[in-house]
Amino acid sequence: MKTELTINGRSRAIDVEPRMTLLDALRDAAGLKGTHAGCEHGVCGACTVIVDGDAVRSCLMFAVQCDGMEITTIEGVAADPGELDVVQDSFCETHGLQCGYCTPGMVLAAKALLAVEKDPSDEQIRDAISGNICRCTGYGQIVEAIRLAAKRLRESNTAAMEAGE
Ligand code: FES
Ligand code: FES
Repeated sequence: MKTELTINGRSRAIDVEPRMTLLDALRDAAGLKGTHAGCEHGVCGACTVIVDGDAVRSCLMFAVQCDGMEITTIEGVAADPGELDVVQDSFCETHGLQCGYCTPGMVLAAKALLAVEKDPSDEQIRDAISGNICRCTGYGQIVEAIRLAAKRLRESNTAAMEAGE
């Protein structure tokens, strides 16, 4: 079936079988390997992407369900190739990753939270990443990373407002 997806701001028509998951469509049909396959049955969150503003597990959606929708993967987070966005940079700063397998999903879950909550409590942060499993960090540094990213985003918004941008 022809399916029209807008992935990282770019419209793409891809041919998928009705049973193909969004995860497989992103990795295999669109060639975006940054979305990781973990459990592939909705438990680990490694496959998290943003669909129309919500963090979703791409292994639990069919690609055809996303026809006409806007999808953000980890490849679309930074402004330019080779750069890091604020959330990614904060993960580096606080050592919020080790092996990195969970990290794309964690970053996208964090971005979905920060899009609607500028000053999240630790409880809100923990809730936002509660569907994402990390086997390495113990979560403390990940929570710290998201707290730091929120602070940096608030400060840059304030600076932009003061500069009249
Ligand atoms: S791969 Fe989708 S939740 Fe684990
Ligand atoms: S950094 Fe290894 S699973 Fe999270």
